[in-house]
Amino acid sequence: MIIRPAKNILGSIRMPGDKSISHRYAMLAAIATGATRLENFSTGADCASTLDCVRQLGCSVKVDGQRVEIEGRERLRKPAESLDCGNSGSTMRMMSGILAGQDFECDLHGDESLSRRPMARVMVPLRMMGAEITAAAGDRPPLHIKGGAINGGKLRAIDYKSPVASAQVKSAVLFAGLFADGETAVDEPYRTRDHSEQALRAFGVELSRSRNRVSLRGGQKLQAIEALVPGDISSAAFFLCAAALFPESNLVIENLLLNPTRASLLDALKLLGARISVINLEEHHHELVGTVKMEHGSLKGIKIEGGMSVSLIDELPVLAAIAPYTRDGIEIRDAKELRVKESDRIALVARNLRAMGAECEEYDDGLRVAGNQKLHGAEIDSGGDHRIAMAFSVAALRAEGESKILGADSARISFPEFFTMLEGVTER
Ligand code: S3P
Repeated sequence: MIIRPAKNILGSIRMPGDKSISHRYAMLAAIATGATRLENFSTGADCASTLDCVRQLGCSVKVDGQRVEIEGRERLRKPAESLDCGNSGSTMRMMSGILAGQDFECDLHGDESLSRRPMARVMVPLRMMGAEITAAAGDRPPLHIKGGAINGGKLRAIDYKSPVASAQVKSAVLFAGLFADGETAVDEPYRTRDHSEQALRAFGVELSRSRNRVSLRGGQKLQAIEALVPGDISSAAFFLCAAALFPESNLVIENLLLNPTRASLLDALKLLGARISVINLEEHHHELVGTVKMEHGSLKGIKIEGGMSVSLIDELPVLAAIAPYTRDGIEIRDAKELRVKESDRIALVARNLRAMGAECEEYDDGLRVAGNQKLHGAEIDSGGDHRIAMAFSVAALRAEGESKILGADSARISFPEFFTMLEGVTER
């Protein structure tokens, strides 16, 4: 994909459905009573992987564009083949929680990138609950799971203090907790996105929450829902950051997910100096949704660390990619998790910034990108990682000369419409 410099970002757009919420609604629909009907379901390949798994587990799944209907089952069926999670860590980790509670054995595998990602983080607590889980090499996929309900058993409830701030881990344990005897609790070091908690409530599950702790009683039954999935704020991030780069920009995004555990990008952009307002705030199935208006403001600098790094984890690549265009630069710390995403995102961000002529310093847990730098167009190595491909397409809009994004096709993982929509709002 060739990206030419732009003058401006202008327009009013809507994002396809949020990836995190689409995964969760699809998984919970599979174990709920009745037919769940979803609109604006994520169009990304990751959520299609989840739908394929749900189908292989015996549920009827009908897809009509962005409308999805899933018929839940009282008991999931042992899949005939290994479940293919594609590129999706969310599918593998959160599904493991549900599979841990079943009365059959099954396998899960993924593509080359997913086969390199750590799974001990879910294997450890799910084993404590009584499921048998083995990985092919150490803790890397493929996984083999022997459910705790084989021989009529049940999982054991646990009180789990998670060493990593990961919503996927929290979700896997909570989903397994539905099949456990007693109260399962998860404590996390930093608060992570809470879509599983909100989705569980929407499907009729009672849970209790305080600070970074959440717990639920096993054996509760889920009821199907009808829902409109809010627009994905991590996809919107590319457009908001692009708009932040040009003085005449004016961008409106409707039906956008604004859950406080996901909307830190708006705070980060405001801290940087962008002018953002939110209108038409509503709540759908406990998720906040609204219209965001974004106008340019001169960008200063910001340091992102601690809990803020956790809640901005998927938006950090694009923030780092626009950092050279700010006055004082951006420093990111406490984000070591970026090294075990679809790629080593710290290394790839640093490499591609340097390819464009920017200076940056790489740390084990983040990077510092100086401000006030001029970039030139370059050949960008996305490493097959969707967020790297999209982040540098945004950086390329303000560079001198055109850039070539290698592996741009990876955008289909979360946002297949990205390049067409970007063209639609770009003025040259
Ligand atoms: C996600 C949680 C985050 C995030 C990922 C989606 C989720 O991962 O990076 O893109 O939907 O729960 P971790 O749970 O590994 O932090």
